[in-house]
Amino acid sequence: MTHPLFLSRCVHIAALLLAVTSVKAQRAAVDPTTTVGVESCRDCHEAIVDSWERSLHATSFTTLAKSSAAEQITHAIGMRADSISSNASCVRCHFTQETLSGAVQTTAAISCESCHGGAEKWIDVHNRKSHSRSERIDLAAALGMKHPSTVFATAKACFECHVVDDEQLVNKASHPALSPDFELLSWYSGEVKHNFLVSKEGSAVKSNSHDAQPIPAPRKRMLYVTGKLLHLAQCLRAIGCAADAPVDKEGKIVRLPNGQPTFGVQHAITMQKVLKDLRELQPQLNAPEISQALGVVESVPMSTGHCEEMSAAAQEIERLTEQFCATNDGSKFAALDGIIDKLQPHLSNAGKPQMAGR
Ligand code: HEC
Ligand code: HEC
Ligand code: HEC
Ligand code: HEC
Repeated sequence: MTHPLFLSRCVHIAALLLAVTSVKAQRAAVDPTTTVGVESCRDCHEAIVDSWERSLHATSFTTLAKSSAAEQITHAIGMRADSISSNASCVRCHFTQETLSGAVQTTAAISCESCHGGAEKWIDVHNRKSHSRSERIDLAAALGMKHPSTVFATAKACFECHVVDDEQLVNKASHPALSPDFELLSWYSGEVKHNFLVSKEGSAVKSNSHDAQPIPAPRKRMLYVTGKLLHLAQCLRAIGCAADAPVDKEGKIVRLPNGQPTFGVQHAITMQKVLKDLRELQPQLNAPEISQALGVVESVPMSTGHCEEMSAAAQEIERLTEQFCATNDGSKFAALDGIIDKLQPHLSNAGKPQMAGR
């Protein structure tokens, strides 16, 4: 069956997107009354904190506001660059806040708690030896922890930030609409990777090894597939909730000052690539959730101004992804190893070897 979005030229995609005003569903900031800060993790996870400190997620705390890109983006929306770290519309993706002596303060850029959830309620529970491993995982999750026991919860956090959900920020200020070529496994495998834990059920709880462990092959396959599904969901939501016209009166694609098409079209182009990948890998893996997610895509209007329908579709794909993560461990997906072996770990400038020691 040919789906309209198989048409690969962006002009075609743009023509499908109609402008209608709509509601938005956006990533919420981590609640500053629930955060405890990175230093609270250091005692037990020192190697992880050390590696995090060298990543752009950490270093952008001091560099972002001073960058020329920040100057341009904030100027375009009438904001001062030095207010990035306190402005709620930027903080929710760029910073972590804590409540210190009753006052909300920005204490880090993208921190442990941006991905694992505000830790106040779970920090003393997640490692509790008096509980079995599955009990402490369930308890911590119930208290707001995004536990990496399955790939789902932590991976979802990546897409909420890396597939940007603020249309006006993109269309008015040329903020990136999404991280170009974001792919979960390769983007996790570079400077972000922090597999140091060696303890598992049955052995004594031990929280640090000094060498980052390689990601086991089955886990890599789970990261790869989960990433595709979550990417699809997040792009669908963005397309549906977009409101600005993608084409002008003459039917020509609208270009932003940075040469990119508008928010909705950028997401539609990315979504097409992700869909293509999913359609290719679906016959190789016996996983009903992938076919069902592709079915969900066929059933939606696939145009802007359908925020509710497209958000519901995205939510359904997320539910399927969670189920996929809960019922698979990747051991049966060796067919993916050919693709996975070709992926390169993604490093930003902050993570590049020549910059080491910064
Ligand atoms: C008192 C020591 C201690 C502190 C403090 C601590 N952790 Fe842990 N953490 C552990 C131990 C031990 C485990 C392993 C638990 C297990 O095996 O189930 C663990 C497990 C985890 C895991 C799950 C890994 C897995 O798959 O088992 C995450 C995520 C995590 N910690 C994050 C954090 C963050 C974020 C902080 C700071 C906000 C923090 N921890 C503070 C000791 C600690
Ligand atoms: C939905 C999440 C999200 C929000 C909200 C957000 N950003 Fe970003 N921002 C990102 C991501 C993700 C990147 C990295 C994109 C990439 O990989 O190129 C980024 C990158 C940037 C950059 C670097 C761009 C470049 O070209 O190097 C600047 C500057 C920036 N954001 C400013 C802001 C400002 C100012 C605000 C608030 C008005 C804001 N952002 C709100 C997610 C967000
Ligand atoms: C960018 C998001 C992100 C940030 C920031 C982050 N984590 Fe994680 N963390 C993850 C993901 C994703 C995984 C699971 C990787 C996988 O599926 O194999 C993980 C896994 C873990 C684990 C278990 C992995 C292991 O075997 O060691 C621990 C413990 C942990 N994180 C603690 C921390 C601490 C402490 C910090 C802050 C210094 C932190 N994380 C910052 C996303 C993040
Ligand atoms: C709270 C929002 C947020 C979350 C969650 C998040 N990131 Fe990021 N990430 C950012 C922003 C913002 C930047 C860019 C910072 C800048 O340019 O100042 C970034 C940068 C990066 C970079 C640096 C490389 C580059 O070229 O930009 C990598 C790699 C990365 N993220 C991977 C991940 C992965 C993998 C996850 C999930 C495990 C994740 N991120 C979760 C917001 C987030």
